[in-house]
Amino acid sequence: MIKKIGIIGSGMVAQTLGTGLIKHGYDVMLGTRDAQKLSKWVAENTGKAQVGSFSETATFGDLIVLAVKGTAAIAALEHIDEDALAGKTIMDATNPIADAAPEDGVLQFFTKMNESLMEQLQTSFPNAHFVKAFNSVGSAKMVNPGFEVTPTMFICGNHAKAKEEVTTITKKLGWEVEDMGTAIAARAIEPLCMLWCIPGFLHNQWTHAFKLLK
Ligand SMILES: NC(=O)c1ccc[n+]([C@@H]2O[C@H](COP(=O)([O-])OP(=O)(O)OC[C@H]3O[C@@H](n4cnc5c(N)ncnc54)[C@H](OP(=O)(O)O)[C@@H]3O)[C@@H](O)[C@H]2O)c1
Repeated sequence: MIKKIGIIGSGMVAQTLGTGLIKHGYDVMLGTRDAQKLSKWVAENTGKAQVGSFSETATFGDLIVLAVKGTAAIAALEHIDEDALAGKTIMDATNPIADAAPEDGVLQFFTKMNESLMEQLQTSFPNAHFVKAFNSVGSAKMVNPGFEVTPTMFICGNHAKAKEEVTTITKKLGWEVEDMGTAIAARAIEPLCMLWCIPGFLHNQWTHAFKLLK
């Protein structure tokens, strides 16, 4: 059973998921190259917040969350000993957002349509089990979002047990889960982030989420 979660990242996603997972009873460590950045998060989660290097955080986690800038995702995991990743589930919240301004509210990606960042990660780190999740909702609504209906988290990945682990966590955080299949489906899930961001850039609306109606 997953008890300890290592979150690679120090931004809003890492901090929000970190606090939410602590509230749900998990032991959580956030990983950063600069622990100073997390002093406020540590103060807000007194006694429960743990901070380490990327490597210490990956070693700590029974499951790892990847929440770093998309352009740095491979570089961040390269900081980590292969043994610390081997056989572990990596819940991947990253998006392949390019270092370029959105065009008419549409984010620019550094991947092409028939590619995805998660496939690149899975190829680069074949001994870990990547599962895409939490990439297409803003951090403000990630944890028990409080809509009248339960929103849908689209996930994908090659490893069935890893998807079960992510599903358990995602449901605890207030989501229903739709499994879209293997890692290749990240080609469809990652661009949902583009769609999600358009009302934000055009109308300053940042508090919606997707739901699959059936
Ligand atoms: N913000 C949102 O609401 C949201 C929602 C859904 C998905 N996402 C995705 O989630 C990920 C995290 O987003 P965020 O807004 O929380 O943070 P972010 O600003 O996109 O990323 C911050 C993290 O990236 C790491 N990083 C940056 N450059 C690096 C480098 N050259 N080498 C290694 N690590 C580097 C930083 O490491 P240090 O701690 O060492 O500085 C930090 O932990 C992104 O991929 C984003 O697209 C964001």
